[in-house]
Amino acid sequence: MKIVAVLYPGGPNAKDTPELLGCAENALGLREMVEGAGHELVAITDPGDELDSHLPDTNVIITTPFWPTYVTKEKMDKAPGLQAVLTAGVGSDHVDLAVAAERNITVAEITGSNVVSVAEHAVMQILTLVRNYFPSYEEVVSGGWDIGKIAARSHDLEDKTVGIVGMGRIGQRVAARLKPFDVTMYYYDLMHLSTVDEAALGARYMRLDPLLRACDVVTIHISLTPQTRGLFDRQRLLSMKKGAYLINTARGAIVETDALVEIMEEGHLAGYAGDVWFPQPAPSDHPWRSMPNHAMTPHVSGTSLEAQKRYSDGISDCLQRFFAGEQLDRDYLIVDGGRVVGAAYSYAYQS
Ligand code: NAI
Repeated sequence: MKIVAVLYPGGPNAKDTPELLGCAENALGLREMVEGAGHELVAITDPGDELDSHLPDTNVIITTPFWPTYVTKEKMDKAPGLQAVLTAGVGSDHVDLAVAAERNITVAEITGSNVVSVAEHAVMQILTLVRNYFPSYEEVVSGGWDIGKIAARSHDLEDKTVGIVGMGRIGQRVAARLKPFDVTMYYYDLMHLSTVDEAALGARYMRLDPLLRACDVVTIHISLTPQTRGLFDRQRLLSMKKGAYLINTARGAIVETDALVEIMEEGHLAGYAGDVWFPQPAPSDHPWRSMPNHAMTPHVSGTSLEAQKRYSDGISDCLQRFFAGEQLDRDYLIVDGGRVVGAAYSYAYQS
């Protein structure tokens, strides 16, 4: 079997940093296992021509949300022997799930592998915006001491109203981490939590539009599906409180690119942060890089070294089961047996 992993470049020291498992040089630590089992592993960084040159005889593509291969119909057309697409991480929106289902290609991701990593990053970015951290840091680096300028846009998180859009694994972990900050919390999701879980997390259900009108801070943790693409359009962004903060560590395409730039330039929101973009890698002139009052990072929240270990182990487990002809871990499956079965995606693909 031929397995092609398209992973981010690890840089010149990657080979000396074996714990940086997720880069092409270290190939998720899979080489010994795959080759020992008599299969071929190709690890590359180019999801374009180089990947295409391998597709005619590729059986499994491994990709990652941080450096995604967009596994479109065109890519699948070039890979007649493709049996599985595995995501080293969480979120399979970079795969055309409907086409994969039609062709009985299995799609799986490593559910839960980086949910703590993302929750920590989201809390960090909420505080970064609310406390006005980046301008404060830049003041230090530039040799200044303008307390008034920084303090005029710096707040306490305590007593603010926070809205969590998407109360799945990450959303719930964000709520648990924010509860000790003594905030009022609401959440929106397709599913309601039990009253016991709501009480434990300190968050109450609210429909999306009232939540957006009510909250000082909104953090997005829903999956990207045909229903959530562009969910935060100009109208929804404008419906948020003036001076509110928006954080998005889910997927860039949930927020409309140009609408956000306009809203930030008009000063309607006080800040935007997150680590997800569309497309990725974000081109050097992506307008979110230069819009005012943002605290964006590249897509790194879910790829801490601990997360890399967890998702590498998960991919290894998938491949070993695949080689043995066994069913993959049910929690990992997004497309299986010709159907979209992943819980966060399936309703969006019901015909
Ligand atoms: P999850 O499946 O546990 O939670 C997703 C939640 O979104 C579910 O509760 C689901 O009901 C809800 N949802 C989906 N569509 C919805 C809609 N139309 N309206 C309302 N709610 C909707 O997934 P998890 O682990 O919490 O991850 C969430 C997303 O975060 C992933 O799909 C992925 O896109 C993103 N992610 C980003 C990472 C990063 O590095 N920045 C890493 C991991 C995940």
